[in-house]
Amino acid sequence: MSSTTPHQVSSTDKLDLRAALIERIGGYMTAHSIGVAAELGLADLIGTGTRTSGELAEETQTHEPSLRRLLRLLVAGGITTESRPGHFALTEIGSQLRADSPGSLKNFARMFSDPLFLTSWQGLRHTLSSGERAFDHAYGVGVYDHLAQHPETSALFNEAMSEESRYSAGQLASGYDFPATGTLVDLGGGDGTLLTAILRSRPGLRGIVFDSASGVAEAPATLSKAGLADRCEVQAGDFFRSVPGDGDIYIIKSVFQDWGDEESRAILRTCRAHMPASATLLIVGTVLPETADTSAPVMFLTDANMMVTTGGCERTESEFRALLEETGFTVEAVGDRDAGPLSVIQAVPASA
Ligand SMILES: C[S@@+](CC[C@H](N)C(=O)[O-])C[C@H]1O[C@@H](n2cnc3c(N)ncnc32)[C@H](O)[C@@H]1O
Repeated sequence: MSSTTPHQVSSTDKLDLRAALIERIGGYMTAHSIGVAAELGLADLIGTGTRTSGELAEETQTHEPSLRRLLRLLVAGGITTESRPGHFALTEIGSQLRADSPGSLKNFARMFSDPLFLTSWQGLRHTLSSGERAFDHAYGVGVYDHLAQHPETSALFNEAMSEESRYSAGQLASGYDFPATGTLVDLGGGDGTLLTAILRSRPGLRGIVFDSASGVAEAPATLSKAGLADRCEVQAGDFFRSVPGDGDIYIIKSVFQDWGDEESRAILRTCRAHMPASATLLIVGTVLPETADTSAPVMFLTDANMMVTTGGCERTESEFRALLEETGFTVEAVGDRDAGPLSVIQAVPASA
């Protein structure tokens, strides 16, 4: 029989609880170490084998004793293993930092260690006391204006986004019943990764990647590489002003999280005004549970990250339904939240 009542914790439990909290308190140290490891290309150098910290230090031109300590922290974080002192390999989780891994998150890790995000998080107190975006407070402009002025950071951002899209695009292309013909418009489609996956699976479908000028900068290269340049147009524009008017399906993935309700309504009104009455709108993104839980921490990380950077938020199903209904759409279906991290909300223009 336990010597403690349900409201007491033993001293061992207390130690575990302390360790659990201290680990979370230091979470940003692990996170930044993963970002720097990605920047140095450590996972690419380790590959499927085992490398010594000495070899890795030489190849990355870093200070060996410091690099070894970083690699040991990554062991504690489940990214690497140390089979013998100073000999490191990748875990299955860590292998995803390799550029050649099918679901690579290398640039995703780099992006979150970029000052773009670190500076925003340093301004969390500012956001909490004012409700304003910490990013704008630090940089004097919004994220997307900043990216437009910084092509290198923009390229990293687009590449990180496409890593996420590359993974979810395959699932979406096989999981959603896209028509065999017609035109699919990807609004805020970035470098065209999502459209590439869908068009590959539907040879009779045409596409338009629509994004800001800096957003589509890498799209022509992605499409030519996939041999899809003749089936897919690239259009630079502003979805607050206009969107292509000749689509059959409009897809808008991971975009509304960037914007507050007022801006989201404005984007939806632009879509409603320009898309044909017979077209379908697919919102692809996270749908939050009505109350927070521990089942998918990534949703809440993204939500809070949007709070300090773009000023947007993740939304629940009822919040999405309200936005769509207020802007002249009828919701036809909302994908099952349990089926994966991203859901598809299918809507059509409401009849007048
Ligand atoms: C979070 S990213 C998502 C990109 C892509 N849909 C994906 O899932 O990987 C948001 C996209 O919205 C684009 N965007 C931001 N403001 C825009 C605007 N005013 N008009 C068109 N696109 C815009 C950005 O350039 C960026 O590519």
